[in-house]
Amino acid sequence: MKTVTNLNKDWKFIYSKDNTEHQVNVPHTWNGDDGQDGGNDYYRGTCTYIKHIKKPEYPADGAVYLEFKGVNASAKVYVNGELAGEHDGGYSTFRCNITEFLKDENEIKVEVDNSVNDKVYPQRADFTFYGGIYRDVNLICADKCRFDLDYFGCNPIKIDPVVKGTDGHVTVTAYAAEGTVKIAILDADGTKVAEIENGGTAVIKNAHLWDGVNDPYLYKAVATLSQNGEICDEVSANFGFRTYKVDPKKGFYLNGRLYPLRGVCRHQDRPHIGNALTKAEHDEDMALIKEIGANTLRLAHYQHDDYFYDLCDKAGLVVWAEIPYISRHMSGGNENAISQMTELVLQQYNHPSIVFWGLSNEITMMKTNKKDMLATHKKLNDLCHKLDPRRLTTLACFAMCSFGNKSAHISDVVSWNLYLGWYVPGLFLNDVWIKLFHAFYPKRAIGYSEYGAESMPNLHSAKPKRFDNTEDYQLIYHAYMLEFFARNPYLWGTHVWNMFDFAADGRNQGGDPGMNHKGLVTFDRKTKKDAFYLYKAYWSKEPVLHLSGKRYKNRTGKKTTITVVSNVGAVEIFNNGKLVAKPKAQKGGKVFKCKIKLEAQNEITVKAGGLTDGATFVKVNKPDPSYKVTSGNSMSWEK
Ligand code: GCU
Repeated sequence: MKTVTNLNKDWKFIYSKDNTEHQVNVPHTWNGDDGQDGGNDYYRGTCTYIKHIKKPEYPADGAVYLEFKGVNASAKVYVNGELAGEHDGGYSTFRCNITEFLKDENEIKVEVDNSVNDKVYPQRADFTFYGGIYRDVNLICADKCRFDLDYFGCNPIKIDPVVKGTDGHVTVTAYAAEGTVKIAILDADGTKVAEIENGGTAVIKNAHLWDGVNDPYLYKAVATLSQNGEICDEVSANFGFRTYKVDPKKGFYLNGRLYPLRGVCRHQDRPHIGNALTKAEHDEDMALIKEIGANTLRLAHYQHDDYFYDLCDKAGLVVWAEIPYISRHMSGGNENAISQMTELVLQQYNHPSIVFWGLSNEITMMKTNKKDMLATHKKLNDLCHKLDPRRLTTLACFAMCSFGNKSAHISDVVSWNLYLGWYVPGLFLNDVWIKLFHAFYPKRAIGYSEYGAESMPNLHSAKPKRFDNTEDYQLIYHAYMLEFFARNPYLWGTHVWNMFDFAADGRNQGGDPGMNHKGLVTFDRKTKKDAFYLYKAYWSKEPVLHLSGKRYKNRTGKKTTITVVSNVGAVEIFNNGKLVAKPKAQKGGKVFKCKIKLEAQNEITVKAGGLTDGATFVKVNKPDPSYKVTSGNSMSWEK
């Protein structure tokens, strides 16, 4: 039987910037600090990781593999000085068969390169490309008779579930060069509900559907490989039965009923550790995404950890998965774009959560060889359909593209990154833009792949406005957008940019260089901004009552604005124990706003539907200077 041993511990790391040696465990990055402090000057180079291992025990004629779940961006793997494998692309799994290089004592050396080049994506984007071995490393010992470990780093089992009437038909193929394969289908309780030959189709009568966040029911396929009556390998994966379609005039359908996709985009990085995450950080992110009540997730701008797609399956989120083909088309990068897409599709093929393959993001942002760029998009689109005939392709279009831009008419559906009301003044322009698009292209299914506003919980204003980076303007912006989406329900998907603040070392905004603050939750996941509660009130089934602006403690003037978010009905506002207002709901009924008299000291309590919330505001004579950005609010960054 195959054994998998984790090799995360005790690597020697040689930091080439200053030639120092460090003892580290992976997940690891060398850009945990310099990639987050602004200046667009984080170290991009080739660093080395070394580990010594004894020759593992493995069956005669068997094989030993090193498995890397994520090394950014390019890797060369040496065993005892011999090149055992190479990989370009920082977000996917790859394996090297190292059997022939093994001795009794072995040196594994990995050269990891995140330096600037023009062939491996991404090279230009608004996020940090953390260098390092930042996901797990495993040593796999397998029999000669084994499931394939050489095929694009994927789990060698391919599951094709199709719904026919009330039945589920599932075809399962597991890849092995020799031996006998048997496949069992288990229900969510682990009970075997069918058994088939390799490549066969099982029919599950009255199949339990994977029904999004309402009921993300998972089946499992387990393939066993045996030879001479002995089991020598086993692989498995979860899967789900579901149908979906996008109607340009109505929106997204799941299992035959309208199911508007409303959710967020996720960047994964964290303070000081960058992308070098453990399961605990992934779990925390998922808990927050579930809490807000999203039913869709755009996993931007690259392949995320396998573990996270598993969490999405279990949570019932409809996922848009994509490769980092972003901001600038590089003619020298075509091979890499194709290989990253191949790996994404093959490695994540079985996840019921994934419905969309994203071809690119804002690819027209920088001038390029247009013909080549369009040809690459067509190739990527065809590749996705060839590898996966059932899922839909999509693309995140740059705001400056005209409706008819050719790049926006290649994928099955399209989505636009539109920051009208943030980068461009005028929230109302969203209504104008979408009306026109829909009128010109009524048959083209359209969504909002990104929209958002910068927000720092320490910044506040009595008169919030675009570009002030306050938590207060972000709330106004998103309140508008939520109602705008309600007015245009045919948008097949909408994805807030972003669920979490993230590092973009080239940015300098809001007095906090190196960060993009469009998150609904701060970079450390410790603070939920007011807009988080707004979304929760709209999307979640939980009762929400939230007094906004709690951090805007010191206030000036005779009157002050109180904004309350509630999905439990009419709100009452008390100041120092006295009922002072019963504000009316703004359109949509979830934002309640009014002005109240500002006393010297204001103990505010808000009540609705049996819930209470509150805060203390203090009257001051002059605006608190700490609420305003005084330096480093430049809007220019190197994408
Ligand atoms: C773009 C881009 C994101 C970026 C965002 C922003 O649309 O796709 O990667 O972070 O804009 O400006 O915040």
